[in-house]
This record gives sequence, structure tokens and C-alpha cells, in this order.
Amino acid sequence: MKERKQPVILGIESSCDETAAAVIRGRVLLSDEIASSAPVQAKYGGVVPEIASRAHAEAVDEVVERALRSAGVGKGELDAVAVTYGAGLLGALLVGLSFAKGLAYGLNIPLIAVNHIRGHLAAAYLEDETLEPPFVTLLASGGHTAILHVRTETEFKVLGGTLDDAAGEAFDKVARVLSLPYPGGPHVEALAREGKPVVPMPKMLKGLGGYDFSYSGLKTHVINYVHTHEQRGEPWSRADVAASFQSAALDVLVQKTAEAAHECGVSVVTAGGGVAANGYLRDSLARTCAAEGLKLVLPERKRCTDNGAMIAAEGLIRYRAGLFSPLSVNAEASIPLR
Ligand SMILES: Nc1ncnc2c1ncn2[C@@H]1O[C@H](COP(=O)(O)OP(=O)(O)OP(=O)(O)O)[C@@H](O)[C@H]1O
Ligand SMILES: [Mg+2]
Repeated sequence: MKERKQPVILGIESSCDETAAAVIRGRVLLSDEIASSAPVQAKYGGVVPEIASRAHAEAVDEVVERALRSAGVGKGELDAVAVTYGAGLLGALLVGLSFAKGLAYGLNIPLIAVNHIRGHLAAAYLEDETLEPPFVTLLASGGHTAILHVRTETEFKVLGGTLDDAAGEAFDKVARVLSLPYPGGPHVEALAREGKPVVPMPKMLKGLGGYDFSYSGLKTHVINYVHTHEQRGEPWSRADVAASFQSAALDVLVQKTAEAAHECGVSVVTAGGGVAANGYLRDSLARTCAAEGLKLVLPERKRCTDNGAMIAAEGLIRYRAGLFSPLSVNAEASIPLR
């Protein structure tokens, strides 16, 4: 292996409907490319695994080439290939993983298999080169919602999380009942900007202690509210429902994240996952952290949803820790939060 202070790492992500690749040198992002099958998936109201796998197979070569070209990096300059091995759709994961294995083998450089969720956490390191643990992270994505105490670059403790649906999942389900397209989060956010949070929503934390919360009651409440009003022919405002749901879903995350930071005695907060792209959440985190003397490091919006840069960033951590993977590593559909 080449000895170099700032390793050049290619990150590849293909766990769901985004084929993404990025190149970093140390913590400096050199390129970040993406091809999404979301517009095709939107016709079906969600991700069809077979369509996702085929789209990855068609796009991966081109997306990786683009990432190398726009970084101005030749394949021979790469020190390692990092790739998502899970969690996600098996067929989709296998496309990226097989491609990365071939590349690592052909170039005789290490393969680094990355847990997608650790990638979401690592996105913040690219935002602020000085960011170092310990800190508290709000992870809010399509499949996960949790508050984590990140103790070192490789170790974190789950302080609490959702007991049922993930925040992103709740946004997607509420979007559907509001007749908004997939993926729902950005559409709910846009609609919420036209409304006011005046529709009463259930308290998500009632009866729950610590850092656990529940989204299923909130989601069901919105669905029942819409159906009841439609059945009775009563007027209701889609924008007000969107705004009310959004604040009920997100305020609690902000409040609990700040509480966790104080309890853990840390002064830095980060966030990651698709829901962290939400403008209301970002503004609210910024206001709360500023008021409570906490430093906030938020990845750029496009690096909150799935991307190759976050996989490269986690790859860098594992590269420095010598955590390489054998070429026999397999894809995993689900991985516990660890
Ligand atoms: N602006 C937004 N506001 C709210 N939710 C959003 C926004 N943008 C994206 N999301 C939600 O984020 C989710 C997608 O995030 P992400 O790509 O990280 O999820 P995933 O990769 O499917 O799940 P996981 O990362 O848990 O495996 C979707 O549920 C989407 O609706
Ligand atoms: Mg994700």
C-alpha cells in the first residue's frame, strides 16, 4: 500500500435509487456525481427493487468515470475504493459492491466496505475539516431516526430513536395522503411553506422517556384527519396539514438533540440522513444550537440524502484505522445500527 498523508479515496453508493460516486483527498471533496432513478420510480410511488438494480447496472460505470474525470484524478492515483455493502436493496447493493471489488482488485488497492448509515454520519466531516468527536448526531433518514453520541471516529452510542417509523418514512407516507409525488420529504417541505402549523397534532413523546419517540401515531393521525375531512366533505388546508405535521415531526428531534448534547457534555452537534436536508429542521437546529451555545455542523443538503461523498468520507476513517475488507465481503440487506 502506498504511504501518503492525504489518501485519495473513491466512494461508491448504490443502496437504493441513487447511483453515486465521489472522490476525496483527505477531507477535501474533489468530485461528487450522482444518477438517480427516482424520476422513474416516482411513477410507481416508491422504489421498485428490480428497476433500481437495472438502473445502477446501466449507470455505475459512467458515474464513476465522471467522478474521476471531474476530480482530475486518474485511477492509478486512488489509494482505496470505499463502497456501501449495506443496508439497502440487495440487488442494488450488489451492483456497486461488485463494481468496487473489480476496481480494487484490478488496481491492487484496498477495498473498504462501508455501512450506509455510518456514511450518513461521516458526511459532516466533509463540511468542517476541524470536526472531531465527541459530538452528538441527529440521524434522520428514510429508514432510521436516532440520536447518537459519537465518541470517536469509529465508535458511537445510540442514545435513543424511533420505536416504529423513521422520520423520512413518515414524510413519505404523509406525502402520499396529501397526493404529493415520491420521494415525499421535499414536497411536504415545499407545501408546508405555504401553510401554518395550526392543525392540532398528537404529542410524539407522550409516555416515552429518554430519547425515544414514535412516528406511527402522528402519521396515522394525519391520515385519519385527511380521510375524515374528505369523507364529510369538510374544507381543510393541505398546506396547513403539511406545516403542522412537519413541525410536530421535527421540533421534537431538535429539542431532544440539544438535550442529548448537554447531557453528554459535548459542545458540537451534527446531523445526517435525508431528513436533515429539510430547511425547517436546519433552521430550527441552527436557532436552537445558537441559543444554547452549541456548535452545529450540517452537511450540505445534497450530502444529507444518499451520495458517494459520504461513503468516501467514512472510507477515509476506515482507511486511517486500517479497517479494510476482503474481496469476499457480501452485501447485507439490513444491518443493526452500530
Ligand atoms: N427536504 C426534506 N424534508 C423531509 N424529508 C426529506 C427531505 N428530503 C429528503 N427527505 C426524506 O429523506 C428520505 C431519504 O433519505 P435517505 O436517502 O437518507 O434515506 P434512505 O437511504 O432511503 O434510508 P437510510 O439512509 O435510513 O437507509 C426520504 O424518506 C425523503 O422523503
Ligand atoms: Mg440513506
